[in-house]
Amino acid sequence: MEHRHPDLDPTALRDDPVEYSLRPQRLGEYIGQEKVKARLEIALQAAKKRGEVLDHVLLFGPPGLGKTTLAHVLANEMGATCKVIQAPALEKKGDLAAILTNLEEGEFLFIDEIHRLSAPIEEMLYAAMEDRKLDILIGQGPSAQTLKVDLRPFTLVGATTRAGLISKPLHDRFGMVHRLEFYGRAELTIIARRSAEVLQVALATEGAEAIARRSRGTPRICNRLLRRCRDYAEVKGDGTITQASAEACLALHEVDDLGLDGLDRAYLEALCGKHRGGPVGLRTLAAALGEDEGALEDLVEPYLMQIGFLDRTPQGRKATEAAYGYIGLKPSPGPLFS
Ligand SMILES: Nc1ncnc2c1ncn2[C@@H]1O[C@H](COP(=O)(O)OP(=O)(O)OP(=O)(O)O)[C@@H](O)[C@H]1O
Ligand SMILES: [Mg+2]
Repeated sequence: MEHRHPDLDPTALRDDPVEYSLRPQRLGEYIGQEKVKARLEIALQAAKKRGEVLDHVLLFGPPGLGKTTLAHVLANEMGATCKVIQAPALEKKGDLAAILTNLEEGEFLFIDEIHRLSAPIEEMLYAAMEDRKLDILIGQGPSAQTLKVDLRPFTLVGATTRAGLISKPLHDRFGMVHRLEFYGRAELTIIARRSAEVLQVALATEGAEAIARRSRGTPRICNRLLRRCRDYAEVKGDGTITQASAEACLALHEVDDLGLDGLDRAYLEALCGKHRGGPVGLRTLAAALGEDEGALEDLVEPYLMQIGFLDRTPQGRKATEAAYGYIGLKPSPGPLFS
C-alpha cells in the first residue's frame, strides 16, 4: 500500500521481536478495555474456583488493539500454555484434528483471523467446541468409517477484525464474545510510558501525550511511533523524548496532529471531493484509490468513524462536516440544490 505510512499500518510487521517484548503478560499490565477486563476477571476467577477450563472466548476489533496479547494473557492467568494458529493455515480437516487431539488438558488454542476458516473446518470445530468431540472420517468410499474421538478440556480463543464475517453457528459456540474498543488518549499515554520503561528510553510526560494523540487509538501504532521518536531523540537530541522532539519527529514522518496519514487523507479527499461527500459504495472508493476494499474496511474506516469523520449508511459511505473541516473543503450542495 503506497499511501500508507508503514508506522501507521497496524498490520505491518505484526509480530516483530520488539512488539513481542512490549506485550503485557498479565491482566494487571493490560491497560484499558476496562469492561472487557472486568468480565474476564470474573470468568477467570470462577473457572479457577471450579477447577474448570475457561469458556471459549471470541475477541473482535480493529488491528493492533490487543487481541493476540489478550489471548496470551488469558492463558497466563489460567497458568496454561497457548498454541497459536492462523485460520488460513488450516487447509485440511486433518490439520485441525492433529492440533486438537494434541492439546494438553487446559491448554489454550488461539485461532487468529477466525473468519477465514474454510466451511468444512469450521463445521468440525462446532463439535469440538460444544461437546469436546471430533468425528474423524477414516478411509474412502463405502468402507469409510467415522471414528469418534474425545478431546481433553481446552479453551478456544478466536480473534477477528471482522465480526460481521463470523457465521452465527460459530459465534454462538463461544461462551464469551468481547469487542475491543479504540483506546483513549490517557490510556495510550500510559501505554507509551510503560513501553518506554521496557525499552529504557527517557520519555517526558508531554512527549508521551504527543505520541498518544497521534496513535489512532491503537497501542501497536503508539509503540511504533515511540520507537521512531526514540531514534529521533537519540540522533537529534540528548536521548530524552520531549514534546518538541516528538512533534518534530512525527511531522518529519508526515503523521499529522490526529495521527492521520496519506491514505486517510486520500480517502477523505476522494469521498469529499470526487464523490461530493457520498453516499458512495466502498467498492467505488477502493477503485478510486487503487486499494483493496478489505484494507480500507480494516485500516482506514474504523478510525475515521471513531473520530466522527465518516458515517456508514445503508446507501454507502458519507463524509461528516468535521471531515470537510479537516481537509479544508466545503460540503457540496446536495442534488436538491444543484
Ligand atoms: N491493553 C494493552 N496494554 C498495553 N499494550 C498493549 C495493549 N494491547 C496491545 N498492546 C500492545 O500493542 C501491540 C499489538 O497488540 P496485538 O498484537 O495484541 O494486537 P491484535 O489486536 O492482535 O492485532 P491484529 O488484529 O493485527 O492481530 C502489542 O505488542 C502490545 O505491545
Ligand atoms: Mg493479533
